[in-house]
Amino acid sequence: MLDDITRVGEDFDTELEGASDVKALDELRVKYFGRKGGLIPALFGRLKEVPKEQKKDVGDALNKLRDRLEESLKEKSERIAADEARRKESREHVDITLPGRRPRLGSLHPITLVRLRMEEVFREMGYSIDPGPEIESDWYNFEALNFTPDHPARDTQDTFFLDANAKEGTPLLLRTHTSNVQIRTMEKFKPPVKVLSCGRVYRRDEITMRRSPMFHQAEALLVDKGIHIGHMRATIEHFIRRIFGEEAQIRLRPSFFPFTEPSAEVDMSCFFCKGKGCGTCSQTGWMEILGCGMVHPQVLRNVGIDPEEWSGFAFGMGIDRVAMLKYDIPNIRTLFENDLRVLQQF
Ligand code: PHE
Repeated sequence: MLDDITRVGEDFDTELEGASDVKALDELRVKYFGRKGGLIPALFGRLKEVPKEQKKDVGDALNKLRDRLEESLKEKSERIAADEARRKESREHVDITLPGRRPRLGSLHPITLVRLRMEEVFREMGYSIDPGPEIESDWYNFEALNFTPDHPARDTQDTFFLDANAKEGTPLLLRTHTSNVQIRTMEKFKPPVKVLSCGRVYRRDEITMRRSPMFHQAEALLVDKGIHIGHMRATIEHFIRRIFGEEAQIRLRPSFFPFTEPSAEVDMSCFFCKGKGCGTCSQTGWMEILGCGMVHPQVLRNVGIDPEEWSGFAFGMGIDRVAMLKYDIPNIRTLFENDLRVLQQF
């Protein structure tokens, strides 16, 4: 009997050693202390077979074994609980000395950067922003803007028509400029109006270094009482300087657009050589940057505004051109290829 007690004690020690989690420990507890078939209760059961003179020794040994095993089980279960707690803590622990992980952010396309900048400059001057529709009728893109029925810009050589064979009315087209927004704005709102329109325009051009069949324009329109060409010049100069820097100079050259009279082409002192003359400006010191003019009286009449009472100016420029100048991009195709190596630089 004493040998059995020793053996049970030794077996227990080995098994306890191998028990590494709560579950194994529970199983051990059942095996040794379970009410039914537990090894310790079984030993106690055999106590009555022990001869009287040995009873005290065996009983003592058995009590000691039970106490020792209970104590060991308790200790081990506390150790496992503590280990578990430590592991959990280290899992949840925030190491504030670790360098942060930089999130991968996108960036804005150079055309978007320029557009947002232009919109900001005009919003400061109290203009509203309206990109207007890209799919347009002949009226908004041409007719109301005083293009004669036989104007060459209406030719399919220059304009994308959406259904040239349409039986009824004139076909829809892709706007060839943002000037459609002039008409839409003046139809919708009584003057005074101030609006900036930035968006895509389309022309049937070959793709070259400087041309693309789809490009972007920014167009400003102001109609109010007593507006003259001085207001236009000052607005353009302010705008150009906010975009290209305070040292930028402008000059106006007479030009022609059906919807403005007088019309002008605006040159800006070369962004690269500051007017001294370089390869980019063909040694002239100037670069052509936008078209402008005083809103033609007929255009005002077309939208029901009395040209005797109101006058205004409009100007339009290529956003792509400006982005190419500002960021020194020689080929317009670079803007539309969506090459990440290029885009990530902005
Ligand atoms: N719409 C003209 C173009 O596409 C530019 C322009 C806008 C000219 C407004 C005068 C006034 O070239």
